[in-house]
Amino acid sequence: MILGDVRDVSLLKTLEADVVIYDIPYWYPQKYRKYGAQGEQRENPDLVGLVNNVRKFISKDIVVFAPKEMDYEYFKNILGKCEHVEIFINNKHDRNYVLFGDLIKKAGGHSVNL
Ligand SMILES: C[S@@+](CC[C@H](N)C(=O)[O-])C[C@H]1O[C@@H](n2cnc3c(N)ncnc32)[C@H](O)[C@@H]1O
Repeated sequence: MILGDVRDVSLLKTLEADVVIYDIPYWYPQKYRKYGAQGEQRENPDLVGLVNNVRKFISKDIVVFAPKEMDYEYFKNILGKCEHVEIFINNKHDRNYVLFGDLIKKAGGHSVNL
């Protein structure tokens, strides 16, 4: 197991992976600030910078676990081509999964009810 800070570029450079799952909560950017708690926001890594570092040093095949408020247009605008899956659990919108790189099977936004 490797423990470290995802913002540490020197660490990212040492990692190898086929797929990277990004599951760090609380990185609500300005557009979505009203949904997050103030203290947590201050600790937030920069999502675009981080994903671009992951693409550069580890893998372009990335899954981002995202809060339900962050829609397809937002991700497409900040990170480019993606598959944005709204996850509904018992018909209630719970979260979104956003896929990049070769993980994209159906570009664009759609939803799944579990
Ligand atoms: C929702 S949990 C992830 C759970 C994990 N996917 C699993 O299935 O066990 C979020 C994790 O992100 C970690 N985290 C928060 N900020 C971080 C950072 N800057 N660098 C690395 N990990 C961080 C937290 O310590 C926490 O363990």
